[in-house]
Amino acid sequence: MRVLVTGGAGFIGSHVVDALADAGVRVRVLDRARRAWIDERVEFIGGDIRDPATVISAIDGVDAVCHQASKVGLGVDFGDVCDYVADNDLGTAVLLDALWRRSFNGRLVLASSMVVYGEGRSRCPDHGLVTPPDRTADDLSAGRFERGCPVVGCSAEVTWDAVTEDAPLDPRNTYAATKLHQEHLCGAWAREAGATAVALRYHNVYGPRMPSDTPYAGVVSIFASALAAGRAPQVFEDGRQMRDFVHVRDVARANVLALLDDGVESGAYNVASGSPRTVGDVASALSDAGPHAPRPEVTGGWRLGDVRHIVASAQRTAATLGFVAQVSFEEGMAEFARRYEPASSST
Ligand SMILES: NC(=O)c1ccc[n+]([C@@H]2O[C@H](COP(=O)([O-])OP(=O)(O)OC[C@H]3O[C@@H](n4cnc5c(N)ncnc54)[C@H](O)[C@@H]3O)[C@@H](O)[C@H]2O)c1
Ligand SMILES: [Zn+2]
Repeated sequence: MRVLVTGGAGFIGSHVVDALADAGVRVRVLDRARRAWIDERVEFIGGDIRDPATVISAIDGVDAVCHQASKVGLGVDFGDVCDYVADNDLGTAVLLDALWRRSFNGRLVLASSMVVYGEGRSRCPDHGLVTPPDRTADDLSAGRFERGCPVVGCSAEVTWDAVTEDAPLDPRNTYAATKLHQEHLCGAWAREAGATAVALRYHNVYGPRMPSDTPYAGVVSIFASALAAGRAPQVFEDGRQMRDFVHVRDVARANVLALLDDGVESGAYNVASGSPRTVGDVASALSDAGPHAPRPEVTGGWRLGDVRHIVASAQRTAATLGFVAQVSFEEGMAEFARRYEPASSST
């Protein structure tokens, strides 16, 4: 079996490549960047996924495609819209067009994201699932971080509920809109081609090779970088924002299952650890890993538009893909923190 991994030189793609090669699969990578960690066992094609000639040669002879190439992050401002649409929408369209012209009817696994959901689900103790209004600057500066039930006359605070794949989709920024559009394009192709398109909606992915020098690196990298510089991680709000942090080796394994298991049907699947933790827990776990590391500081700071809680349901993926995360939060965070240990702590 031969699999094409687009974006296979990136953070997540490179772990997918390693896991496929370990499973004895022949792997071809298409990526515009070459990185030192690219496995020697793979065939590397340097090029842009928006270039039809490059893509046509990259898909030649492959049995399945794992589409990781994407412009990532949440964007700096709306001025990035053309870059996101070019890499994510046009890039996916060029890939699907090439597959269509080859009459390829195999399996396509797409790297999608939890950002397609927007806010997580909220439940009022009296009114069930509800959609509270966004938090205002007044709420946040008064320390009202939890949202309230929107039903008139109800003053209850809502609690979070795990997001299942059939939850309403609400992409709230350019990146999120393009990730959802990628899913829709892949779904349309799969229906017409009689093929299978599996969209894996990754939650917060962390682990080795995670970029630390971009504005999109995520809270895990930001806290770890602060600790490495001898500074206390600054935790926003009250630190009780719920997230699901899934290790990159688990994400790679979910991709391998989706690529190799013929029984998996087209559709969307959450890829999450199933063990939600707070942002404050992340700061503490990273700080605990260093013997003299500063303790986190909960600052009460906030950013308008930040999601309060988003937690995935891992049930569908467990039942259909047989995917259950194996790297525990404590183990994964301790391993991640070691990468950032300040030079002074090892002398
Ligand atoms: N990192 C996360 O927490 C996370 C969460 C949800 C979803 N995802 C998705 O996972 C996938 C991989 O993300 P990542 O974090 O590894 O990012 P990354 O930036 O490390 O990897 C993406 C790779 O795609 C390549 N690429 C981008 N545009 C290209 C183009 N036009 N032509 C050829 N190559 C191109 C880049 O060179 C890079 O190597 C993306 O689709 C992303 O949307 C990531
Ligand atoms: Zn209510």
